[in-house]
Amino acid sequence: MYLSRFLSIHALWVTVSSVMQPYPLVWGHYDVCKTQIYTEEGKVWDYMACQPESTDMTKYLKVKLDPPDITCGDPPETFCAMGNPYMCNNECDASTPELAHPPELMFDFEGRHPSTFWQSATWKEYPKPLQVNITLSWSKTIELTDNIVITFESGRPDQMILEKSLDYGRTWQPYQYYATDCLDAFHMDPKSVKDLSQHTVLEIICTEEYSTGYTTNSKIIHFEIKDRFAFFAGPWLRNMASLYGQLDTTKKLRDFFTVTDLRIRLLRPAVGEIFVDELRLARYFYAISDIKVHGRCKCNLHATVCVYDNSKLTCECEHNTTGPDCGKCKKNYQGRPWSPGSYLPIPKGTANTCIPSISSIGNPPKFNRKWPNISSLEVSNPKQECYCNPLGSVHDRCNGSGFCECKTGTTGPKCDECLPGNSWHYGCQPNVCDNELLHCQNGGTCHNNVRCLCPAAYTGILCEKLRCEEAGSCGPDSGQGAPPRGSPALLSLLAALLGTAGPLGI
Ligand SMILES: *[C@@H]1O[C@H](CO)[C@@H](O)[C@H](O)[C@H]1NC(C)=O
Ligand SMILES: *[C@@H]1O[C@H](CO)[C@@H](O)[C@H](O)[C@H]1NC(C)=O
Ligand SMILES: *[C@@H]1O[C@H](CO)[C@@H](O)[C@H](O)[C@H]1NC(C)=O
Ligand SMILES: *[C@@H]1O[C@H](CO)[C@@H](O)[C@H](O)[C@H]1NC(C)=O
Repeated sequence: MYLSRFLSIHALWVTVSSVMQPYPLVWGHYDVCKTQIYTEEGKVWDYMACQPESTDMTKYLKVKLDPPDITCGDPPETFCAMGNPYMCNNECDASTPELAHPPELMFDFEGRHPSTFWQSATWKEYPKPLQVNITLSWSKTIELTDNIVITFESGRPDQMILEKSLDYGRTWQPYQYYATDCLDAFHMDPKSVKDLSQHTVLEIICTEEYSTGYTTNSKIIHFEIKDRFAFFAGPWLRNMASLYGQLDTTKKLRDFFTVTDLRIRLLRPAVGEIFVDELRLARYFYAISDIKVHGRCKCNLHATVCVYDNSKLTCECEHNTTGPDCGKCKKNYQGRPWSPGSYLPIPKGTANTCIPSISSIGNPPKFNRKWPNISSLEVSNPKQECYCNPLGSVHDRCNGSGFCECKTGTTGPKCDECLPGNSWHYGCQPNVCDNELLHCQNGGTCHNNVRCLCPAAYTGILCEKLRCEEAGSCGPDSGQGAPPRGSPALLSLLAALLGTAGPLGI
């Protein structure tokens, strides 16, 4: 009970902070990978984190049904009208285009009346379960950006599981369970996304919200991506900075929204009553008119363009990266370990470009200004091939046995990686804030791990202090949007709770 009270207060803060965020935040950021800028050295390229636009991903998928012959109409059969179990002379015939219901009709243009849909065979083999797996494959990692929406022309199924794969269908994890009775179907307590929080956002739930019978307004099933984003970005997703910051630092969260395949497991059709009417089994079947999947190619913030060629999606990698997801450095650009781009600092992010390999430095190309002077290292230590990162190592040359000696907080053979709790800012610096243990409080957001950006009413390294308190001027009506007076103790208790639990304490 205490916990839920705390969390609801926290949800309020998210709202407050989203209003106070100084950034104009929309999905349109990160839409270029580089621009030309003028510096003292003349015109140079400035590299930025970048990502492809979010789009309708159903145009690029392959669909597979199991069992393969589950689509109705071969041989032709009759079924009961949708919503009218007594009108059972409708016909499905795969060999007649007007009467056929092939799987493609789940992805065609909707808006026609009547709508076009895929339909399964009827439950004529009852009591043997009528089950269908619908697998959607992209052969490419994609990041979901909007709700998955499935529109059923039959009643919504009594039992269904939405599953995802991150490894091209080798392994599967459940995404969400759907049932008229979660406890009975899956031994799970029913929940809705609204019962979740920042801390439990990755929990896999069973929902009863989408499983009632045949009424006309209840055709749709959602997998709620946006509601989950809103735990970080606030309602209306106004504070995308906060979401991006979380996605950047929490791999589990990023992976949660990433898929290569989705699988819809239809386990039991809509019955609408307690008992199956064995005399009219032609009224039970599945029919889906539309599936919406919005997302973008995952290119690790190294590409804005994702091309569809030979029925395959591929990122057009920049920053001298390569691979279908820009997941590695190009040959001869392996001068430091590959890393994904970063959303931070908002709004340009950090490109983390690949730099020329040490061995190709004989004729060094001009590389990213931000990267220190490797050619000077070559001059200062020509025989030993160690090239310690000058910002991360104690000396810019290695010791007698070829090892770089790293500064505090720094690691890696070249001293160019940070130990946990540190981030790279001209060398590794201890984090002032992060999204694991050192939370900015009271709706503050962690900027680049080096400082908290606090809402106007707060101050302190972690936004833990009321500004008016510091000035000794807290009046009864001070601090618009601030919690009621007397609550600082509660706040710090909550802060401690959030701080120790971490944002995703699962
Ligand atoms: C659907 O996939 C699951 C998991 O692989 C499998 O156990 C089940 O038999 C499949 N169902 C059908 C109808 O193919
Ligand atoms: C990649 O390498 C080429 C050739 O050296 C260079 O012209 C280009 O600017 C590099 N791009 C980035 C983003 O570093
Ligand atoms: C790079 O190294 C050269 C030679 O040591 C030096 O003159 C130059 O100032 C260095 N540049 C930077 C940006 O450190
Ligand atoms: C060089 O550094 C490594 C790692 O710290 C150490 O094990 C080694 O003994 C050092 N060698 C010399 C000659 O100092």
